[in-house]
Amino acid sequence: MQELKAELDRAYENAAPLAEDVEFDVIKFLRRAVDVLVGKPTQASLLVFDVGAAPSEKFKKIRHSVPMLSLGNVFSDEEVRDFVARVRRFLGLGDGSLRFTFEPKIDGLSCSLRYEKGHFVRAATRGDGYEGEDVTANIRTVDEIPQRLHGDHSDVLEVRGEVYMTHKDFAALNARQKELGKTLFANPRNAAAGSLRQLDPKITASRPLHFFAYGWGEASALPAQTQMGVLEALRRYGLPVNPLTTLCESAEDMLAHYRAIEAQRATLGYDIDGVVYKVDDIALQERLGFVSRAPRWAVAHKFPAERATTRLLKIDIQVGRTGALTPVARLEPVTVGGVVVSSATLHNEDEIDRRDVREGDWIVVQRAGDVIPQVIEVLKDRRPKNTKRYKFPHECPICHSAALRELDAKTGKQEVVRRCTGSLVCPAQAIERLKHFASRNAMDIEGLGDKQIELFFQEGLIRTPSDIFTLEERDRASLTKIKNREGFGETSVRNLFAAIEARRSVPINRFIFALGMRHVGETNARRLARHFGDFESLRETAHDAVPGSEARARIDSIDGVGPVVAEALHDFFAEPHNERELDALLKQITLEPMPAVASTSPVSGKTVVFTGALERLTRDEAKAQAERFGAHVAASVSKKTDLVVAGPGAGSKLKKAAELGIEVISEDEWFTRTGQG
Ligand code: IVH
Repeated sequence: MQELKAELDRAYENAAPLAEDVEFDVIKFLRRAVDVLVGKPTQASLLVFDVGAAPSEKFKKIRHSVPMLSLGNVFSDEEVRDFVARVRRFLGLGDGSLRFTFEPKIDGLSCSLRYEKGHFVRAATRGDGYEGEDVTANIRTVDEIPQRLHGDHSDVLEVRGEVYMTHKDFAALNARQKELGKTLFANPRNAAAGSLRQLDPKITASRPLHFFAYGWGEASALPAQTQMGVLEALRRYGLPVNPLTTLCESAEDMLAHYRAIEAQRATLGYDIDGVVYKVDDIALQERLGFVSRAPRWAVAHKFPAERATTRLLKIDIQVGRTGALTPVARLEPVTVGGVVVSSATLHNEDEIDRRDVREGDWIVVQRAGDVIPQVIEVLKDRRPKNTKRYKFPHECPICHSAALRELDAKTGKQEVVRRCTGSLVCPAQAIERLKHFASRNAMDIEGLGDKQIELFFQEGLIRTPSDIFTLEERDRASLTKIKNREGFGETSVRNLFAAIEARRSVPINRFIFALGMRHVGETNARRLARHFGDFESLRETAHDAVPGSEARARIDSIDGVGPVVAEALHDFFAEPHNERELDALLKQITLEPMPAVASTSPVSGKTVVFTGALERLTRDEAKAQAERFGAHVAASVSKKTDLVVAGPGAGSKLKKAAELGIEVISEDEWFTRTGQG
């Protein structure tokens, strides 16, 4: 049997690229039949191999050669019309024709499938968009995904799409889970995610997963010049493409299709949470480029959120890592669009006050996709007797320091957020900072999740980020004895220490983000990493950046970083307690340079300034284009500038460039240099 299998594998690998599809399908069928007999999992061998072990080890990480970004959302007709108008304006199209694809937005999880010379070689989840998890073995068990593309031999093609589970399969899976006394999945998306992220591919194989292709990542050549053309090619290659995908010529056309699909939604057999509109012409997509993490050439039009009525039992106050006091409504559990909801956000103090929300009230809760459920209405006519107006606390519920609303320097008004002033003594803030530090998009320390951090903090084992890296050493000296604490056996302790070791060396941008400074999210962390290059110069500059100083001006002038961030950085780096912690931390870990987005363009990594009137590009477009080629666009000329692109009428920036001896080129030369003819 093994011999037969080996022979079939060889036939499968070697089948001439142009072999008749029928021939290929026969080989594929025979392989699968043999697989069932020898015990290798495919979906055809279902129930036989379902052993429900929980995932324990790690998936290997895969860096996406082209990042997997997300989409901006719109909810109303007006916003769809605005989107179309914005695209037209950006491209300077006037009334010229412009086509969009219309695609259902599948509610599953996105996945990137890499084909080399037509053979499936690798699959990765989206992860944080830059790095995902290696799910190759699991994707191999999804019948619908071809191991070999029909008729395509391009060197590299990364197909992107959504892995999902049908309603029917979801119901059957949950019925089986129930029978086995296992936890039920909340919805098909969670079930699909749970099934794909199984370390044992046998489990994935026992769970029927499906796939719809909707795009691509790295591609050595594209088979068409339009989105629709590429999707049709993917379909010819043997990949499933959603049959409801179509083309639209105008916003009204898009809205009509949206309404039609909304009416069909319940009978599709799988979940969609809206539709996606994409500019069809790929050359125009490239001109439009991206803003931050979403394309300018596409948008998701989401279905309206779902609502339900329930009782508000209690208002809890949570303290975040920056000390913000956030009110959370604890609700009598209620099902909203298939998901059980037991808490919801109440936004802030003013909102509670304005709407006079009280404990004991009947309220309407709304849930839209992944967004935290919100209390959107108080049913005053159902208000029980004896409720009291809610008094927002003026002290931190955890450390009892005063909680204040700062004055906004610009407007002179009170900020909406009330903050605990006990930053260095407040355990709630310390715990939240640690959770953020270890979290996936920050230091990404596997196995050090919220629960573990709470436990270690309470036991005094980890109080600051640097404590994480001395944990093993202290444990070995028997100072902590983690083993046999709740949830910690031999293996989990070993895994935890290994995960911590693995993060002793991290990219600088992740580290900056992990510090959890106010106003420094992932995008600003990247900007700072790119600008300063090494951590010490960021630290020194921010430390010196008192108002009015040269250092403050330098931070201020970083593109996309403004005075608010500059002030926050200074506040953080000038604080002696933070300085001590940074010293301790940097003794434990090494910082790597920020990983560059794969690019071989001659301007990648360069800092470019555009000035004067541009004739072939709008200013937005020039910036978007430069960023796509891996360059960084700055607003003003400085020693850090590598290249100035000057159009007619350029003035002071051109002069400054000449003084500093910086290369100046014309707009046409920019096109030649970036290989655009
Ligand atoms: S395009 C840069 N098309 O929605 C373009 N996404 O909110 C990125 N999704 O991460 C995505 N159906 O998981 C695109 N037809 C479709 C989609 C789709 C579902 C998911 C995908 C993406 C998320 C963005």
